[in-house]
Parts: sequence; structure tokens; C-alpha cells
Amino acid sequence: MVRAAVLRIGHRSFRDARVTTHVGLAARAFGAEGLYLATDDPGAVQSIADVVARWGGTFFIRESIQWRRCIYRWKEKGGVVVHLTMYGQRLTEVIGEIRNHSNVLVVVGAEKVPGELYGLADYNVSVTTQPHSEISSVAVFLDHLFDGKELSREYHEAPMQIQDTVRRGR
Ligand SMILES: C[S@@+](CC[C@H](N)C(=O)[O-])C[C@H]1O[C@@H](n2cnc3c(N)ncnc32)[C@H](O)[C@@H]1O
Repeated sequence: MVRAAVLRIGHRSFRDARVTTHVGLAARAFGAEGLYLATDDPGAVQSIADVVARWGGTFFIRESIQWRRCIYRWKEKGGVVVHLTMYGQRLTEVIGEIRNHSNVLVVVGAEKVPGELYGLADYNVSVTTQPHSEISSVAVFLDHLFDGKELSREYHEAPMQIQDTVRRGR
């Protein structure tokens, strides 16, 4: 079974706080196990932690991490590193190969990422060849990684849950 976590680098304080929160929420909703933040953002961490407390699961958040060290450690443990960038290989061409790995670290930027990241990553992958955002790229990549299985995940122990009757519009 493939497992994934997301590493978010290059967050610009204030301007990106809400985007960082949404990267975390998208990562959680689409099946990642946690989020590494290369910055210190108590607001984003609190917002994501609140969602985990109410909606369930064990999604972790680590902030103020050193992104190079995070990547090196991930690789030392045998994991694979996938950097999402519009300049990468097409998602559809490489996702089958990436699914063969057990632990996938998905790296996204905010603004222009350091050039060395392209070399550190095992894969540079584009989710379309058009510019969009770290939130959409994380969501679409994870959905392909998990082959859509995360879409039917339920958190039965969570305080907040959507009831079937609501979901079916009754
Ligand atoms: C607002 S974009 C930054 C775009 C910036 N011009 C650059 O040079 O990367 C923020 C992040 O979204 C992700 N992203 C944006 N478009 C993407 C695409 N087409 N495929 C994969 N990732 C993308 C990348 O991780 C990027 O670092």
C-alpha cells in the first residue's frame, strides 16, 4: 500500500497563510498522512489541527522543518520524493511507476522554488503543463496516486460526520 505526506516550502508569511492551510486540508482530504511545513505558521497549524479534531483521523503537522533535511531523511528511509511543478514530466506518464513505491513525499512550492529541488527530487511531475496552484496540484496528484480510493474514506470515530441522509439530499 502506498502512503504519502506533503512538504510545503517557500511560504510567504501573511500572503500565503490561507493557502498553506488549504494545502494541508487538501492533503488530508485526499489521503496524505501529514504535512511538513518549512515555515513557522501557528495560524495554519491551528486551523488544520482543528479540522483533524472535529473531522477525524491522525493527520500530522510538523512546522519549522528544514526542507533539505526532510528530503534527505525521507530518502534515507527508502522513500521517494516527488516535486510538483509545471516544468516536470506529465503525471499520466509517471504515476504508474510512482505507485510502486511505498512512501511518497510530495513537495510543493509557493513562489519560485530553489533550483536544487529539481535535482533532489526523484521525480519532477507536472499536473497539466499550465500554471495553477499548490492546492490543486496536491489534490489531483494524490487522487491519481491513490487511484480515487481516498474519495470514499470515512472517519467513523469523528465528532463531525456527514450523515447519509444529508449526503443523498433527503
Ligand atoms: C503559484 S505556483 C508557483 C509558480 C511559479 N511561477 C514557479 O515557478 O513555480 C506554486 C506551486 O504550485 C505548484 N504548481 C503550480 N502549477 C503546477 C502544475 N501545472 N503542475 C504541478 N505543480 C504545479 C508547484 O508546486 C508550485 O511551486
